Amino acid sequence: MLKEYASKTSKSKALYERAKKVLPAGVSYGIRYFEPYPFYTAKAKGSKLYDVDGNEYIDFWLGHTALILGHSPPAVVEAVKRQLENGTHYGTSHELEIELAEQVVKMVSGAEMVRFTNSGTEANMYATRLARACTGRSKIAKFEGGWHGGYDALHIGVHYPFNIPESAGLTAGTLQDTILLPFNDLEGVEEKLKNEKVASIVIEPVLGAGGGIPAEKEFLKGLREFCDEKEILLIFDEVITGFRLAPGGAQQYYGIAPDITVFGKILGGGFPVGAFCGCRKIMERLDSLLHNRPHYSFHGGTFAANPITMTAGLTTLKILEDGQLISKLNMVGDKIREQLREIFEGNGVDVQVTGTSSIFNTHFTKEKVKDANATFRADRKKLVDYNLKLIENGVFFLPTHTGALSTAHSKADVEKLLLETEKYAKKCKAS
Ligand SMILES: Cc1ncc(COP(=O)(O)O)c(C=O)c1O
Repeated sequence: MLKEYASKTSKSKALYERAKKVLPAGVSYGIRYFEPYPFYTAKAKGSKLYDVDGNEYIDFWLGHTALILGHSPPAVVEAVKRQLENGTHYGTSHELEIELAEQVVKMVSGAEMVRFTNSGTEANMYATRLARACTGRSKIAKFEGGWHGGYDALHIGVHYPFNIPESAGLTAGTLQDTILLPFNDLEGVEEKLKNEKVASIVIEPVLGAGGGIPAEKEFLKGLREFCDEKEILLIFDEVITGFRLAPGGAQQYYGIAPDITVFGKILGGGFPVGAFCGCRKIMERLDSLLHNRPHYSFHGGTFAANPITMTAGLTTLKILEDGQLISKLNMVGDKIREQLREIFEGNGVDVQVTGTSSIFNTHFTKEKVKDANATFRADRKKLVDYNLKLIENGVFFLPTHTGALSTAHSKADVEKLLLETEKYAKKCKAS
């Protein structure tokens, strides 16, 4: 198996052997490992990754879905070059952070004020603290299969079985303070929270790592009403959906407003970023001029609002602002989902294609995939097999993970994905 991959990637194999000696599992993030060893990227441009052996891959992983304009888009590269001449990191206030915050406020209806972080994990951590500060409640709730980064309070119930701790080192108190909720199941949510007072409910409007599963609109609407009734702060984790589903993110796409929004990925224009935002009343809790301890909610960081990230993000958001590129991508996404379904169906392979807008995933199962339970009940081995076959043939999805589109993807890139999928489906049919 994967003989062709092995024969084409000898330099990556050697790098992997070297990496294993100094990086646990040979990687800097566990999910980046895949069998038999990951290829090592030498460069990236547009829709393509190039590995150290000179192989080319059409990239549907896009730096964890962050690169909506593809790798190194010229406008961003130019802006970053200009900023490099003026300083890489200030550690003082500067105009670009105001400009990017103004841009976010302009595009996202639920945002009146913004704070920047360096990752989605950090932004979720500070958003959770802010919700606790505003409500005076300790407990919080999140959904089964929801991924919000590695912060203790939210690194719970991500993978099936959801009741086993995701990591060693989480305290009993942390595990008790986070309540797990069933996705796309309002009655289930009400039942789980009937005797609880939680500060916040955080939800990915489209489960990303959980399988690329959109929340049903009625469910989100019901959740909003439930939160209003119980005075719970609703947090949308838009680290994936932000500036992708619509210029104003999932809240615009669904027409449902959260109390706090968390961003990451696309917002950084290819550089490390996170942000959390909300209405003035909530965000003012972060203002140490207005609130003293213990009422003030802290946020900060050495690299917060780094000028390189700010200029890359600002350039990216300005390109996305009018929504035209996003609409086009959404149409391509619709087409890909439809054609993937047709290909597998035509070859008698049971598959559910999930996703919305420009994100999509494949599940080898007959069962309708409405939540992460269904994702993990599907044939994951087959999904890995499919993804590895694609990699062998120059199409990259990080195995089992949700794929995304960028404006750099060409018609030929999409056709290649469909062609390689057809070959795989035919092989499934024959075996
Ligand atoms: C929905 C969601 N939230 C939060 C995070 C964490 O972001 P980061 O990896 O930047 O810490 C991710 C990362 O994949 C994500 O997909």
